[in-house]
Amino acid sequence: MNNFNVNPMNNIDSINHVTGKSIYLDDITTLKGTLHLEIFGSAVAHAKILSIDLTYAARVEGVVGIFTAKDIPGENQIGGIVEDEVLLAETEVHYQGQPIAIVAATTEIAARKAISLIRVDYEELPAVTDPRVAQKNGMLIIPPRTFSMGNTDEAWCKCTHIFDGRVEIGGQEHLYIETQGAYAYPTEGGFLRVHSSTQGPTAVQRTIARVLGLPMHQIEVDVQRIGGGFGGKEDQPSQFAALAALAAHLLKQPVKLSLSRHDDMRMTGKRHPYSADFKIGLDKNLKIIAYETTLYQNGGASADLSPAIMERTLFHSTASYFIPNTRVTVYSCRTNLPPNTAFRGFGAPQGMFVMESAIAKAAHELGVAAQTIQELNLISEKDEFQYGQVAENAYATKCFERAKEQFKIEVLQKEIKLYNSKNRFSKRGMAVMPLCFGISFTNITMNQARALVHIYQDGSVSVSTGAVEMGQGVNTKLAQVAAITLGIGIERVKIYSTNTSRVANTSPTAASTGADINGNALLIAATRLLERLKQVAAEMLSCRASEVEIKNEEVLCRGERSSTSWQKLIQTAYLKRICLTENGHYSTPKIYFDKTKEKGHPFAYMVYGTGIVTTTVDCIRGTYSIDEVLVVHDFGNSLNPTIDTGQLEGAIVQGIGWATIEELMFNNKGTLLSNSLSTYKVPDIHFAPKSIRCITLEADGPEQAIMKSKAIGEPPFMYGIAAYFAIQNAIMEFNPSYQPSYDLPLTPEKVLMGLYS
Ligand code: MTE
Ligand code: HPA
Ligand code: MOS
Repeated sequence: MNNFNVNPMNNIDSINHVTGKSIYLDDITTLKGTLHLEIFGSAVAHAKILSIDLTYAARVEGVVGIFTAKDIPGENQIGGIVEDEVLLAETEVHYQGQPIAIVAATTEIAARKAISLIRVDYEELPAVTDPRVAQKNGMLIIPPRTFSMGNTDEAWCKCTHIFDGRVEIGGQEHLYIETQGAYAYPTEGGFLRVHSSTQGPTAVQRTIARVLGLPMHQIEVDVQRIGGGFGGKEDQPSQFAALAALAAHLLKQPVKLSLSRHDDMRMTGKRHPYSADFKIGLDKNLKIIAYETTLYQNGGASADLSPAIMERTLFHSTASYFIPNTRVTVYSCRTNLPPNTAFRGFGAPQGMFVMESAIAKAAHELGVAAQTIQELNLISEKDEFQYGQVAENAYATKCFERAKEQFKIEVLQKEIKLYNSKNRFSKRGMAVMPLCFGISFTNITMNQARALVHIYQDGSVSVSTGAVEMGQGVNTKLAQVAAITLGIGIERVKIYSTNTSRVANTSPTAASTGADINGNALLIAATRLLERLKQVAAEMLSCRASEVEIKNEEVLCRGERSSTSWQKLIQTAYLKRICLTENGHYSTPKIYFDKTKEKGHPFAYMVYGTGIVTTTVDCIRGTYSIDEVLVVHDFGNSLNPTIDTGQLEGAIVQGIGWATIEELMFNNKGTLLSNSLSTYKVPDIHFAPKSIRCITLEADGPEQAIMKSKAIGEPPFMYGIAAYFAIQNAIMEFNPSYQPSYDLPLTPEKVLMGLYS
């Protein structure tokens, strides 16, 4: 217990992860009689269901139950924002892989065999996969929304240069290491306990309650940790947990569902592909005067989180720039693909890529470097964003300048030029990506959290919050907050699983807010406990509570060590019948948004930075390597630099993957062609940048960030956008007649075409 050698900067999970001791969903010891669940998904993207024949499947030995929509005791409805998604298809299917039936069997083999024997007759209907076609046909998930500022129509005549263009943006497979799944079992009195691989235990609880027609207090959802989510487990786990819960509830037996990688890839939604048009106008000094863009979001077959993601696209459509006259419209389009969902950045990367494409196009046409235009237009202190928030502590320029001087951008450019002049078939390129990303759920209500803290008689401490550990290190940060606040060693603190019985009505761990909102709730609870304990100590030491401090598990009075330790203090408090439990509630202050005006102050604060990516393109093969990523990032006062650096590096590599080699392919019948790891390529150790160098911007963090340590989960993802333009710049060095297109990802195939076009 008194081991102070534990480095509080380490991730508390590391040792257990690398020694295989951490418990994920599939590691939970199952109860006797646990059944295996498999899903029968639609073979076609859009059809009427004429008949479902289960007779052959039911005869398979080991099959215990087969269920369809008509077996659902409550509502066959799982839509969160829009009520447009059934749990199991009834009369129609809207995407390939959409669940129609489930089989519970004693073995996985029996369940799979039964699935292969289910016969469904379809009457196929035309499938739409293109969001622009969907928009033309009026197939929208919600009405379009427009954010605007200034007078864009009038501003065009003040512009010296006007350019327009079209942008295509691909989706992205989450590829969390742990696939979707859940383990559900009935307990006494018709209760259900559910382990779910989810970022949102409350959403899972609410969905199960709805589908089974039970009150929420009869469902307990528990999450020890998840093997990655990246947004893919913010909303979608509800469906899979509800399927497992349905079978468990109907059969009164434990049921486990763990998707195969193939099922996970074909059944679940991904990052939204977007298509967009832009028009940009600059004055003679390269100031952007006007910007207009229309984006078509490919929402998939039902809303899922698309409306919220569309909103963040609107917020971040001008990226890190101040543009006095701007108008952006987004259409959320319904197509026959799996419902697309949250993914690190939540619609911001797509909006920003359109903005950066517009700048790249202007730079190309005018024969200037894109970073010249970028730098001239960065958002500054007191500038207004198009949604009304005024920039405070705007470090965009600071980061840019720091990057320029620290990484010697001009020297780097000269080196690249020299290299390119000496090499005919190998060309280097670089590009800069300024970052400005808003922290808070765009849905104001969701910015709340609670923490339950117990101090046990022996002085050990447990913490329960709504935060889900998904590899991002939130549990370590929470343990640090408790340990720092109470003045005790981090090994005294255990972070418990995320459980709806201990902490209710949680927001998903998302929007990079996990540590901020849960940490602040914990801070409130721990501070109250501390105040109470100081009273006890004051009585013990005959001094005033304001003179008491607890440091390194020792109780100090007027800065002097006393005979009392943390452990003694807790024992005394218990004997005196002092409450050693607290519950903290936090709601992010000052944020609001008025949807009727599309104006407000939605973000607690912004995260800034500047990223530079350099690349070398093989001009014979079209392949490329990412050489170096150089970043100046605004961490605030990082609570844990090791974890924050890991998040930064991981997000950058994921962002580069999205911009370059990760290519989702659907055919026009809505079949996912890139449905395995042999056809969908993610960055591996060979592809990852050879070096990522990051410099911390020296700036105090904001009050709303946990202990002034800024949110880190999503923002660095967007530095990856620079990889796209770096490669494009290298292509131009080889082929001066190349006409740049804005069609992300920039795969080696596209590069090869560009080199010789
Ligand atoms: N890091 C790991 N290792 N695994 C993940 O699934 N998800 C990302 C980010 N970092 C993720 C991750 C996403 S999409 C978000 S929103 C944040 O972590 C969520 O956690 P936080 O709010 O605690 O930062
Ligand atoms: N980010 C992530 N998830 C969300 C958000 C957001 O801004 N809003 C609602 N869910
Ligand atoms: Mo992250 S996309 O907000 O889960």
